[in-house]
Amino acid sequence: MKRVVIITSSDTGYSGEREDLSGPAVKEIAEKNGYEVVSMEILPDDRAMLSLRMAEIADKNEAELILTTGGTGFSPRDVIPEATDDVTERKVPGIPEAIRAYSMTITKRAMLSRASAGIRKKTLIINLPGSPKAVRESLEYIIDSLGHGIEIMTGEAGNCARK
Ligand code: MTE
Repeated sequence: MKRVVIITSSDTGYSGEREDLSGPAVKEIAEKNGYEVVSMEILPDDRAMLSLRMAEIADKNEAELILTTGGTGFSPRDVIPEATDDVTERKVPGIPEAIRAYSMTITKRAMLSRASAGIRKKTLIINLPGSPKAVRESLEYIIDSLGHGIEIMTGEAGNCARK
C-alpha cells in the first residue's frame, strides 16, 4: 500500500483559530483511492519549518507521497511552493499544470494558485490549494494517475518506454 503524509500549511490552523477542513478532505480522497494515511500535520506558513519537515519525510522514507494543502496563493505568508522547491531534487511541473488546466474549466481563479510539485529521493511532493472545494476538484482529477508515477519512482514498475 502506498503511504501518504498530509500537511496543511496554515497559520490559523496551526494556532487553532480555524478548524482545518482541507486536511480531512485530502485524507478522505486518499483513503478512497487506496492510500494509507500515515500522518496528518498542520504547520504554520513558515518556509523553513515546511521544507525541513518535507525533507525529513523523504529522507527517512516515511511515505511515497506528500500532499500539502494551502499556502499556494499570493498572500505574503503563502510559501509552500518555495518550501517545496527548496527540497525537491527533480521538478514535476506536469502535475500542477494539469491541476490548473482542469481547474480553469471550473474557475478562472485557478490561475492564482502557484502550486508546485517535485521528487526528493523516493517521495513525490504535490501542493494542492487551500479550500476543501479546491482540494476535491484538484485531487480527484489527478489521483488515479499518481500510482503509475510512484511505482516508476520507487522502482516497482519499469519505465513505460521499455515495455
Ligand atoms: N482550484 C480549484 N480547483 N478550485 C478553486 O476553487 N481556488 C483558487 C485557486 N485554485 C480554486 C483553485 C483560488 S481563489 C486561489 S486564491 C488559489 O487557488 C490559491 O489558494 P490557496 O492560497 O488557498 O492555496
